[in-house]
Amino acid sequence: MLINKDGEFILKILIVGDVVGKTGLDKLKLKLNSILEKENIDFCIVNGENSASGRGIRTQEYEKIIEYGADCVTMGNHLYYRKEMAEIYQKLPKLLIPANITNLSGKGSIVIEKNNVRYGVINLIGFAEMGEQMQKNISNPFKEADEQINKLKEQNVDYIFVDFHAEATAEKIAMGYYLDGRVTCMFGTHTHVQSADETILKNGTAYITDVGMTGPIDSVIGLKKEIALRRFVNNEYLRYECSENMAKFNAILLDIDETSKKVTSITRINE
Ligand SMILES: [Fe+2]
Ligand SMILES: [Fe+2]
Repeated sequence: MLINKDGEFILKILIVGDVVGKTGLDKLKLKLNSILEKENIDFCIVNGENSASGRGIRTQEYEKIIEYGADCVTMGNHLYYRKEMAEIYQKLPKLLIPANITNLSGKGSIVIEKNNVRYGVINLIGFAEMGEQMQKNISNPFKEADEQINKLKEQNVDYIFVDFHAEATAEKIAMGYYLDGRVTCMFGTHTHVQSADETILKNGTAYITDVGMTGPIDSVIGLKKEIALRRFVNNEYLRYECSENMAKFNAILLDIDETSKKVTSITRINE
């Protein structure tokens, strides 16, 4: 926490976009090492859905992300890639999976208390353009958001952050307006491309369509570009192979005035 020149307490929140593969994890370690201290970060959320070679997460990647300084880890559609993890998701104490996935068990929301502040985090997945197979197991994210917000409010949280892991820009923007004034921040993940539309909506909710990716540059959203091209150009079905190129770090930084509990700024990080 920082105290600004007017003597007000400012909470600093860091939210990191999808960590992809080993180079993404190495970059996360490097950046969190410096940024958590330099920016006096109070609370840090990391999306880890691609941390295991681009496809899902295992216990070892989860543990690394927590060790590097995250307070919790959110997920997305890639959680289906590792069948052996299905039983484990719910056992990892700070791992969230989208609350509106109907056929996996895990925590769709979480409350973490740190320095007398109660942080609530919700993970949701979009329905639009998620693919027919997945859509069978996705319930309405808007209705689920209502339920999760009520649940967190009953637990007297001070702040609510929502990771909306979704493909369609329109669905994410709609969710932003739906949640405006009811949550502290709604941030999008999944597209791996940072959007330049960060804003504070009319009723005070900080919003960005997509935080972006902490993963390999010179790749197709983390995938080796040679493989991606063969998939697109020749319609070949090839296994996902994560690029090992050097990674960039995509995140957002929020400043929150502790007195009013309002977000005063949202800043993109793309390094
Ligand atoms: Fe992702
Ligand atoms: Fe995803």
